Amino acid sequence: MPKVAVVGVGNSRFGRRDDAILQEIAFEAVREALQDADLSQKEIDLSVVGTVGSRSYEALPAGPINDYCGFSDKGPIRVEAACATGSAALFTAHNSIACGAADTAIVIGAEKMTEVDIPTTTAVGGRGGSYLWEFHMLGTSFAAYYALYATRHMSKFGTTPEDLARVSVKGHKYAAMNPKACFQKEIKMEDALNSKVIASPLKLYDCCPVSDGAAAVVLASEDKVRKAGLKDPVWIDAIGYGADTSNLTRRSDYVGLNASVNAAKMAYDTAKVGPEKVDVATVHDCFTIAEIMAYEDLGFCPKGKGKDILRDGETEIGGRIPVNLDGGLKAKGHPLGATGVSMVYELTKQLRGESGKRQARLRNNIALAHNVGGHGFSAYVTILRGP
Ligand SMILES: CC(C)(COP(=O)(O)OP(=O)(O)OC[C@H]1O[C@@H](n2cnc3c(N)ncnc32)[C@H](O)[C@@H]1OP(=O)(O)O)[C@@H](O)C(=O)NCCC(=O)NCCS
Repeated sequence: MPKVAVVGVGNSRFGRRDDAILQEIAFEAVREALQDADLSQKEIDLSVVGTVGSRSYEALPAGPINDYCGFSDKGPIRVEAACATGSAALFTAHNSIACGAADTAIVIGAEKMTEVDIPTTTAVGGRGGSYLWEFHMLGTSFAAYYALYATRHMSKFGTTPEDLARVSVKGHKYAAMNPKACFQKEIKMEDALNSKVIASPLKLYDCCPVSDGAAAVVLASEDKVRKAGLKDPVWIDAIGYGADTSNLTRRSDYVGLNASVNAAKMAYDTAKVGPEKVDVATVHDCFTIAEIMAYEDLGFCPKGKGKDILRDGETEIGGRIPVNLDGGLKAKGHPLGATGVSMVYELTKQLRGESGKRQARLRNNIALAHNVGGHGFSAYVTILRGP
């Protein structure tokens, strides 16, 4: 497979963005990514826009986003894969370059979720699995899907409410050091444990916030990197993908996600590295239990031991495998289409040694991004190698 590099990254501020419309938020990220790559719009061959759009007044937002960002004649290809939309957009752009259809591409992930109120967004999220099977029988919300996983994981492996709170405290700690994050304040264990119940056993601080935000990455072929002398390329060594049924009642178990396991296996095999080589990771912690399951599904520890590596501080800066040093979905925010792209933004900065107080120690120059679609019906695992 021909090599493809990340040559520029940008990220808007995440959070509630009453100050800007969707297109303006997207441009915040695009401008930064183009400046970072030292390329102009006209040097980009293809634009791929990742946006779910289910909470937007724009019915088909990719066109307006693309126009506003200066790529009217470069696409757009709109990609949607629920919460893994950003990674699916990256996959599309990557493959376009790898097969020779483009030399350069921009991936724009953008979402404005606060245009509708919380009851509406909860109702939309509760139809995010297999509506005909689940909604009428379970009356579920998105948090309720992950509450089922949390309940089973706790009963089978002894994971506790305190373990869930640890994920949240860690996320808020790093988000407080990240100027792009939604929640820039630390919290204590008691804050998390005493917060209101959303879908038992998940509480407010176990949930990612409803968020607005955008991220963008510029990709280039190896040939382009060389000819244009593009600086500090971060190489995409692999993008693994996996899938599972969207009908939760048909899953084989409720303590992990098969889609993640399969995506990780494909990514590790393609990149010819194992989890022990990963220096820093971003994982899909839409709810705190999801981060603990991700440790296990990605092979950072055996099944059921996610709580142990968390308790031992192995996923903190200085630990064996630091995870979500940007604050994660939990505290940086989760604007659906932006999330997978924002993970690549964070890891590119980490691999270039540009993360300041949040910098992980690099031994192998390898980073991993894990992005889940919906309640686990798809997943992408991307392995990046530093310059
Ligand atoms: C958990 C949730 C229901 C809370 O919504 P809510 O109770 O209506 O919260 P509000 O918007 O009224 O905010 C109330 C307060 O809690 C804070 N807050 C809201 N969500 C929060 C969260 N997830 N974590 C921490 N604080 C949160 C707000 O900042 C606000 O604080 P303030 O009073 O100091 O201003 C909402 O955040 C949610 O739906 N999250 C999940 C989103 C989701 O499913 N995404 C897709 C997943 S893949």
